[in-house]
Order: sequence, then structure tokens, then C-alpha cells
Amino acid sequence: MKDAFYITTPIYYVNDYPHIGHAYTTVAADVLARYHRLCGAPVFFLTGTDEHGQKIEKAAEKNGERPIELADRVVTRFESLWKALDISIDDFIRTTQDRHKKGALALFQKCLDKGDIYEGEYEGWYNVSDEEFLTETQVQELGSDIEKNPNFVRLKEKTYFFRLRRYQKQLLEHIESHPEFIAPLSRKNEVLSFLKQDLRDLSISRSSFSWGIALPNDPSHVMYVWFDALSNYLSALGYPESTDHYNNFWPAQLHLVGKDILRFHAVFWPIFLMSAELPLPKQVFAHGWWTIEGEKMSKSKGNFVDPFEFIDTYGSDGFRYFLLREFSFGQDGNFSKESFIQRLNSELANDLGNLVSRSLSMLEKYREGKVPQADNSIPSILKSSVETHLQDYQKLLPTLHFDQAFGEFWKILSKANQMIDQKQPWALAKNPDQSQELDRVLLDLLEVIRLSSVAIAPIMPNLSRQIREKLGLPELAAKIGQNQIEEKLSWDAETIKKGEKGQALFTRIETS
Ligand code: MSP
Repeated sequence: MKDAFYITTPIYYVNDYPHIGHAYTTVAADVLARYHRLCGAPVFFLTGTDEHGQKIEKAAEKNGERPIELADRVVTRFESLWKALDISIDDFIRTTQDRHKKGALALFQKCLDKGDIYEGEYEGWYNVSDEEFLTETQVQELGSDIEKNPNFVRLKEKTYFFRLRRYQKQLLEHIESHPEFIAPLSRKNEVLSFLKQDLRDLSISRSSFSWGIALPNDPSHVMYVWFDALSNYLSALGYPESTDHYNNFWPAQLHLVGKDILRFHAVFWPIFLMSAELPLPKQVFAHGWWTIEGEKMSKSKGNFVDPFEFIDTYGSDGFRYFLLREFSFGQDGNFSKESFIQRLNSELANDLGNLVSRSLSMLEKYREGKVPQADNSIPSILKSSVETHLQDYQKLLPTLHFDQAFGEFWKILSKANQMIDQKQPWALAKNPDQSQELDRVLLDLLEVIRLSSVAIAPIMPNLSRQIREKLGLPELAAKIGQNQIEEKLSWDAETIKKGEKGQALFTRIETS
């Protein structure tokens, strides 16, 4: 049996509507969840919303509504975006749910019982928009700007502190002995250098506002929103109960996060878990950030990319593909409408769409849509190089090299397109002596098209289904214990029933 695969996205703040950054992490997680399901693994894919804290309280106040009303309103935007983007989540957690509060409180209690939480007073700066206490270095770097920025507030309040320092050495050792724990490498090095400095104890409660989970030992404080939020990864599994979900899926295989929230996941979270004597997640992977048309995305610039707009106009598959194909996961990259359209036109409409329509229309024209009998005396033209690319694809995708994995598969498509140009099936069709050679070419093309339906299934589930319909094959089903990817991603693994051109797979986007 394959190892269980528990994958999470960050839970998103509800003070704002979802944008491309949220879509990015969630699509990446979805591709991995779908891939691992096709590998036969039991998968649990979690996302959700982070609904407590000062930032949400303030945003609600500004709108003249209660925080829960704001959350109830915005959460539907996230839910409908995930639906529109074909995100195959297994659960959606909200930090205002009772099941979550129960888990968060249980974790907090464990840390209290361990003696890792003590009462004190916090004096310093707080970044409300990031819900983060500023370090001395950050304060120094900001200088006098700090007082001009409304996101920063000066705090002086009673608080409970978490003894981070106690676990500093243990965490460093864990990172060194588990090289895959933080990825990519550059991010791991950042965390290591942070951990090599003196680690100040962390304030984990707030007493100057009330929108949060009241502490079990002192209800005049609410839990620090990051302690609350991080515990969602456990509460969603039913923690502290020993549920089947908990037993099957903890520790998580992978927390996907953006680079800005790595420290919370790779320093604070493992330390809370160590304190509670729980196993640590296997990996925290931090991806990079999108700029928009070369600029930082920001409210004041009004340059947020609204995923709904793109999905409505160009469909969900194209948007998903672009997000993971444009630059490598882990790096920063840029979103421009021009490159979006260019990529979709050249890779989806031309390379894939045209290959499918050219090939199937030739099959209809020369063989009435019937799949020819293979003549074993004529060897396949593409098989051996295709096999190499397929192996690479299967190494690259589960290791989060999405752009390279699809790049590798696209080499197969371009080889198939080149084969058409070289073999000129229209010329072969004129000569009855070359009928078997034409059959071979058509069969090779059909097989590449079938393989496409398997390789793109995790990223473009709708196009995958449409291709399979054209070939008379059932939709790819994920079944625990059955490795569909491995089985069906090998040459001639399925019997193609037919080849029906039908509607175009992906229409070229005109840019008048
Ligand atoms: N609520 C916290 C996470 C708690 S997890 C226990 C939070 N929420 S958020 O709504 O701000 O979502 C942030 C996610 O979106 C982060 O992973 C962040 O990196 C990502 N992005 C925000 N802007 C982004 C880009 N411009 N590009 C890519 N990802 C970006 O943080």
C-alpha cells in the first residue's frame, strides 16, 4: 500500500477576496493531490480559512459588520473559486468552527501542561496586516517609517509567552538530520540562519481585542492568531481525538506555503508540535511570489489578478496550466496577460489541440475513424523516446518540478507534430503500398494523444476527460492501491476504442 498523502494549503485570511496568490498554492496542491490519488495513495487534501485576529476584526469594523458576518460572506468566495478551479479538496476548515476550536485549545493545553507557556508583558511593535510581532532587526530596518505605516501598532499589553528557546537546538538538529524538511534549499538556508540567532520567546496571546479563541487558562486573553491558525492542520483531522483520519494522515506529508509565511511553518509550528510531543510534518515547501505585469501586487495599485475573470474567459484548465508552467515552483515570477495568452495559444491550442485535431481528422479521413490494427513488423517511430520523457515526467512532477515535468511531456507532443511533418500522412495515403506505414503513423499519434490524457489529468482534468471521450476511453479513476499513472502512462497500455475528432480541444485566443 502506498503511503498516505496528507497535503495542506495555508488557510486564507477572510479580510480580502481571493487572488492569484491564493489560487497558485491551491492549484499546486490540487495537482499533487490528484497525482497521488492516481498513484493509488490514500489522499487527504485540506484547505480552509483563517478567520480570527485583529486584522479580521478591523476589516469587519470598517465595513460595519460583525467579524463572523465578514467571514461568512468572504468564505463563499473562496468556496466558489475552488469549485470554479476544479480543486478536489477533501475538507475545508474554518477556524471559527467548533471542531477547530477544540483542536486548537487541546494543543494549547498540551503546551501549557508542558510548562512551555508563561505569563508576562509584551512591549513592542506589531504588524497587523501580517499578524506578526516585529523583531528588533525589522524595527531597526524600518527606522522612522514604522510610525508612518498604519499597519504597525505599538503594543504594551499583558501576554502569555511561549518558550521557543527551549526547542531551538532540537529544531536545528531536526532540520539537519532531515534534509527534505524545508524546501527549496535557499529557503531552508534562510530558516537555518534565522535559527542560528538568539530566538526570542514568542507572545502567543493578545488581550487588547477579543476576536479569537479565549485561552483555557485565562479567558481575558485570546490565542495569538498564528497559534490558532497553524493548529488547523491537526484539528481538521479530528485532533485531539484519536480518529481514523488522525491516525491515517498525521504527520502531514507536505505543507505548501508562500515564502512570506515560511517562518511560521518551519520554526513556530514544529516547535509547538515538539512541545506537544507530536510528530513533525515531513516537508514544508515555500513557493515564490507573483508580480503582475512587472509590479508588486497590491491593493493600492489595484492590480490584483482576479482568478474568476480568467476562468470565466479562458476556462479553468488553461489558468491552472499557466500558473504552474510559467516559472519554476519555488522561484518568483511574473504574470502578464500577453504571456498568458501566448503560452495558451502555443502550448494548448497549437501543440496539444492541433495535434489532437490534425491526427483525429486524418484518422477520420483515411480510416473512417477506426483504429488500425498494429502491424508488428513495422516498429513504432516514437515509442523509445516517449518512454524516456515519460520517466522523467514521473520523477519531476511529484518532486514539485511542475514546469519541467510538463515541459518534458511537451517534448513528446513536439516530436509527434514533427513526425507528421516528416512522414506526410497525406502523401502516404495516396499510395496503397504505404498503407501499413500510414497505419503506423496514425497509431503512434493516437498513442501519444492517449498518453496526453493521462499526463495532463492532474493539471487539466477537463481536457483530459475530453481527450478520453474522443478515444472512447473512460475517465481516469483514482482508486486506492491501484497505480493508474504508472499503469496507464506506459506505451500501449490501453486499447483505444475509436478516434473521433469532434469539437476542438482548445481554441486559439484571438487578440485583435
Ligand atoms: N492566514 C495566513 C496563513 C495561515 S496558515 C496556517 C495567511 N493568509 S493569506 O490569505 O495572507 O494567504 C497567504 C498565502 O497567499 C500565502 O501563502 C502567500 O504566500 C500567498 N500569496 C499572497 N500573495 C502572493 C503572490 N503575489 N504570489 C504568490 N503567492 C502569494 O498568510
